[in-house]
Amino acid sequence: MPTFRARLVRSPFFRYLREFRHFKRSLVLGNVFAIIQALSLIPISLFFKRIIDTYIPNGDAVSILWVLFLGLGLWGIHMIAAVLSRYYTLSATKRVTEGLRARLTMKIQQMTLKVHDNQKAADLHSRVILDTERVDIMANALVVHVLVSIIVIVAAAALLTYINARLFLLLFLMLPFYFIIRSAFAPKLKEGHRNFRAEMEKMSSIVSEVIHSIRLVKSFAMEHHEQRRVEERIQKVTHRGVRLFTEAAAFQILLQFVGGMAMLAIFTVGGWMVINRQISVGDVVAFATLTGYFLNPINTLIATTDQVYAGTAALESIYGLFDMYDTEESDHLPGIDVRGQVEFDGASFEYQPGHPVLRDISLVARPGQQVALVGGSGAGKTTLINLILGFYRPVKGRVLIDGQDVAATNLQSLREQIGVVSQDNVLLSGTIRNNILYGKLDATDEEISAAATAANAHDFISALPDGYDSEIGDRGVKLSGGQKQRIAIARAILKNPRILILDEATSALDSESEHAVQEALDRLRRNRTSFIIAHRLSTVQSADEIIVLENGRIVERGTFDELVARKGEFYRFYMLQFSRQSQGAA
Ligand SMILES: Nc1ncnc2c1ncn2[C@@H]1O[C@H](COP(=O)(O)OP(=O)(O)OP(=O)(O)O)[C@@H](O)[C@H]1O
Ligand SMILES: [Mg+2]
Repeated sequence: MPTFRARLVRSPFFRYLREFRHFKRSLVLGNVFAIIQALSLIPISLFFKRIIDTYIPNGDAVSILWVLFLGLGLWGIHMIAAVLSRYYTLSATKRVTEGLRARLTMKIQQMTLKVHDNQKAADLHSRVILDTERVDIMANALVVHVLVSIIVIVAAAALLTYINARLFLLLFLMLPFYFIIRSAFAPKLKEGHRNFRAEMEKMSSIVSEVIHSIRLVKSFAMEHHEQRRVEERIQKVTHRGVRLFTEAAAFQILLQFVGGMAMLAIFTVGGWMVINRQISVGDVVAFATLTGYFLNPINTLIATTDQVYAGTAALESIYGLFDMYDTEESDHLPGIDVRGQVEFDGASFEYQPGHPVLRDISLVARPGQQVALVGGSGAGKTTLINLILGFYRPVKGRVLIDGQDVAATNLQSLREQIGVVSQDNVLLSGTIRNNILYGKLDATDEEISAAATAANAHDFISALPDGYDSEIGDRGVKLSGGQKQRIAIARAILKNPRILILDEATSALDSESEHAVQEALDRLRRNRTSFIIAHRLSTVQSADEIIVLENGRIVERGTFDELVARKGEFYRFYMLQFSRQSQGAA
């Protein structure tokens, strides 16, 4: 059983408080100004009493003018303190938010792909963007609203009692109504907010799906179908919104009603007491003014509880993410100076428990050798590559690079020395130059164009209006599949890695450019270990070893000639393709 202290220290709220340790000064100043802001207006109510009870009966116009100046001065202090308190509080909370966002993004990047496979991207995104914002709003509410409110409530209550204890008792008796109304509405409103947010998120995800898949939608002529789906969602949001905000308004109006009733009661009972000469008119006016100061912060506190609910829920999900232990952090592990030996030692792997995707794989690629992976779709070829990169860990057996277990290697140092051209060619938004530079950030222009030339990409890039500085992505030039592939190849060439992985790297190219790129890749493959996955078997002809995978198992291995001679699985593949090609040619 963890002690209370241990549980407190690990609670999200406490951990969040600790984030402020570097911003103590801002936080203290923010609070100090908040207190000044809170207290500065309260004396004004006493001035009213003075004016009514003393200056007016005495015809003392000069003193009334003095009160005006004093009041202006207090308002000035109030306004300056309010702005400064916001400024200092925000400087602290926004910086803490900044830190949380940066660390969350880093954490997300460090999480293993296994974790990512089970997380929705939208959820991770909303933790970094929305949850941090909710926490920020809560922190500001806590410092500014809660602290100020409590101080004002206490100060106003003291002064109200001082002016007239019996009237204050009357006011005090009305307070339970606030809490009755609050507890009647709170669960409804909380539920309503949660439902509304859930509907909003559903709507936003369906809208963004339609926009992202616009080509698919258009090519299947599904615009009307999609529109119906979207409209259904929009209607639900409207429905929930109308309900929620009506309820929220009713709640506010009831709160105002209690405030209004309090004023009525004060003037009724106060007026009666004035008639009976128990208090002065000035007392009643001062009391009524102060009542406003007293009730407002109570409303604020009630409103703040929502932000606190939202904020604490957000804190839990933020620190929940930080606590996810399944990260790739391997900075503490020894780096590696790759020579190029890749070995699988009885490695098995499964994405989901009980569904093996690789079974007992053993193979050795010596430095400089070429290994080709062949097999039907879903056989496990890409998965095998993923294990070399340390994206996933084998559930049994080991993967070794130069005899060093990948599981015990600094992954960053390992991956820096592996070049990948993957199946789904990913280019980042930005210029073509930056995309190629991704392989080697300090490369010169000459190196870049040499790499592009080798990848048979230089000509088409130069023909673009902005050449290497052309933007790609949403607002930039549109590239064909083959062009993207060649940029990805140029990136791998520039990286000049010890181990090269080509996963269907030339699949989007026509025969002619494939031939040209193939030449470049052949040159690139020299003197480095390479793993090649290609459906076109002609590209694997020169491999030192061809591994035929079926259902995660190695079913055949050998050189091209050996495998053809064996007339087994590979031969079947080969003949199938051969006959298809000759049919195509005929
Ligand atoms: N991230 C993942 N999570 C769960 N299962 C996965 C994941 N990636 C792949 N799989 C499954 O693992 C199996 C092997 O997939 P893999 O991508 O390695 O096949 P492949 O041989 O590369 O096929 P292809 O030629 O179509 O690219 C498939 O059954 C696939 O459904
Ligand atoms: Mg694959």
